[in-house]
This record gives sequence, C-alpha cells and structure tokens, in this order.
Amino acid sequence: MDHLFDPLDVRGVRLRNRIFTAPMCQYSVMERDGVPTSWHLVHLGSIAAGGSSLVIAEATAIAPEGRISDRDTGIWNDEQADAWAPIAAFIAGQGAVPGIQLAHAGRKGSTWSPWGENGRDGSIPLDAGGWSTLAPSAVPYHGLATPQELDAAGIERIVGAFADAARRAVAAGFGMVEVHAAHGYLLHEFLSPASNHRTDAYGGSLENRARLLLRVVASVREAIGELPLFVRFSASEWADTGWDVDACATVAQWCADAGADLFDVSTGGNVPASIPLSPGYQVPFAARIKELTGLPVSAVGLITEPAQASEIVESGQADAVSLARELLRDPHFPLRAAHELGVDVDYWPGQYLRARWR
Ligand SMILES: Cc1cc2nc3c(=O)[nH]c(=O)nc-3n(C[C@H](O)[C@H](O)[C@H](O)COP(=O)(O)O)c2cc1C
Repeated sequence: MDHLFDPLDVRGVRLRNRIFTAPMCQYSVMERDGVPTSWHLVHLGSIAAGGSSLVIAEATAIAPEGRISDRDTGIWNDEQADAWAPIAAFIAGQGAVPGIQLAHAGRKGSTWSPWGENGRDGSIPLDAGGWSTLAPSAVPYHGLATPQELDAAGIERIVGAFADAARRAVAAGFGMVEVHAAHGYLLHEFLSPASNHRTDAYGGSLENRARLLLRVVASVREAIGELPLFVRFSASEWADTGWDVDACATVAQWCADAGADLFDVSTGGNVPASIPLSPGYQVPFAARIKELTGLPVSAVGLITEPAQASEIVESGQADAVSLARELLRDPHFPLRAAHELGVDVDYWPGQYLRARWR
C-alpha cells in the first residue's frame, strides 16, 4: 500500500488519505456580502467527490475589513454560517473532512479581486467601496494603501472575532479549522519584522511578534473543542527580513503548546521577492519544521504528480501533501493518483463507479 493513501489521524479525527485540498479564494461572492454561494458548493463539492481527505474552504474573513477583496467569503455573521452549512454537509457526505481557513487580510485587504473587475487592480478606493485596512504598523504592502496601526482595543477585537468565527464554523458543521498566518496577511504581518514595527507587547522580540497568533490559536482552540486545528505559515519570506524557517519552527512549537495540531507550510507573500519556483519547491521548509519540532506538517506548492506526492510522504518529509491548482485542473486527482499508484480505494462515489479504471 502506498503510504500516500494511509489514513492520518489528527486529534482523533480520521482523514482517509494524505492528500489535502489547499484553501483557494474564489472571489465569487458577487453580492459582496461574504455569503458563500452555489459556486462554492459545486467547487468544493466536486473536489470532495474526487477523493481528497480534507477540503479546506478558502480564506474566509472573520470580520468585514479582514477580506482581501469585497468578493471574499466571510463567517463574521450567522447568515454566512448558515450558508456554509450545506456546503460543509455535502463535503462530509462525500467522506472528506470539511475544513475552513479563518483569515484576516490585514494590510493586504480591500483590493480588487483578480478577475472580472475590468482590469482594475491594487487597493479599492474608499469612494468605490473600499475600506481602511488594519495592520501591526502603518507600513503599506508594496503598492497598496497605507493601513492603520491596530491599537490595544483593535487587537482584542481581532482575537474575539477569530473565536466567534471558529464557533460559527463548528455550528456550520466544519470538522476542522485552519488559522491563516501566511502570505503576508494580518497574523503573518505581526510575525515579521518587515511589517511589524511595534514597540509594545506585540512587537520587537519573537515572543512579542508571535503573541497575537498565540492568543488567536488559544482562543480558537477553546472555541472548537477537540476538532483538529491547523496553522498555515509562510516559513520564508525569500528575503533577509528576520522571519525565517527557524523562527517559524519555534513559533510552531509555541502554537502546538497553545492547541494547534498540524502545520501547513507555505512561503512568501509579505514582501516582494523573487521566488525560485520548481516542483515541490516549498517541501524542504515543511521538512525542516518537522525535523526541528517533530510536529506533523503538510507540504504545499507545485505538487502535481502522483509519484511526486507519494515520494514526499514516503520519505517522511511531510505527513501529508496539500494541493491547490492541480485540483482545479483535476478535482478527482486523488482517485486518479490511486489508480496510477496501484492503490484500491473504496471511496469512488457510487454515481461515478462505471467510470472507474479497472
Ligand atoms: C486560485 C487560488 C486561490 C488561493 N487562495 C488561497 C487562500 O485562500 N488561502 C491560502 O492560504 N492560500 C491560497 N492560495 C495558495 C494555495 O493554497 C497554494 O498554497 C498555492 O497555490 C501553491 O500550491 P499549488 O502549486 O498546488 O497551486 C490560492 C491559490 C490559488 C491558485
């Protein structure tokens, strides 16, 4: 049996294999109210039918100003949670664990979505429906509007909003929560000296820069009981900023102490950088965090071939692989990978059995 198809138990929840669906923003909330739509049901549902063990819904905002664009999903109110419920139920009905990535975009919020906006990009002006963004410091991301520095009350509101969003996620039927601390969004901005210039208890030392994330992890853990909790990190900024894989491993260990179970290891997004892309280019960062901490990790980034995915798990570099674009090209990649690797899986949807390779 190929170990890619071994089940993985996380905090008592069984994942049927080691292929996760990475969170992917769809920018498809055309009503701009954060309420997920039939697009989200079909997109996530077809991937769940394709054999992934864990389907993590896109970066979903914990507050309106935490959206990347005005077409992002949210879970800051009950109407949004109610609309997520049938989506989570459908995913679970396909035998996958429905997960959700809880996010706050920080200084990278209030931007035009990347398609269907007549070529507009960058920050949405305030008089065109944009909003003031929040960040650890009033330091803009390259080319975007300058954010407001969060004050103490603002930080308390963020912690509370993550916990409330997590409670709504559980009520909506999600079986796992991921805290988004990667890609230059709010929690990553706090971690990195490139974006965090604070002089209070939330800036300066690594302990201080990690304080908000650790409070969020602890409050989400309290909100979700014994459900699995992942944290997504950017383990490198591909620049000499003071936030790197070793610092990330230290913070991952602290997050584990605060209640996190698994670390989804990505890179980049907080400072402009040229990233040397190649197949599996981020896998060494996941492997390094696993090596330094002994904690479970998933690897992501240009993992597109069954044999490649299998090798990452077989070699022990990561406990699981997380796929994004390959699952847009082929939502049923896990079923195809099982066939190509000679593994018999028992989760072909009955409706599709007549298409099964023999
Ligand atoms: C359409 C699209 C939307 C994405 N949205 C998110 C997101 O919501 N949250 C996140 O952490 N990463 C997001 N990403 C990054 C992916 O999760 C993943 O880390 C990245 O695409 C690399 O994996 P891949 O080579 O398998 O695509 C997105 C990527 C794509 C292609």
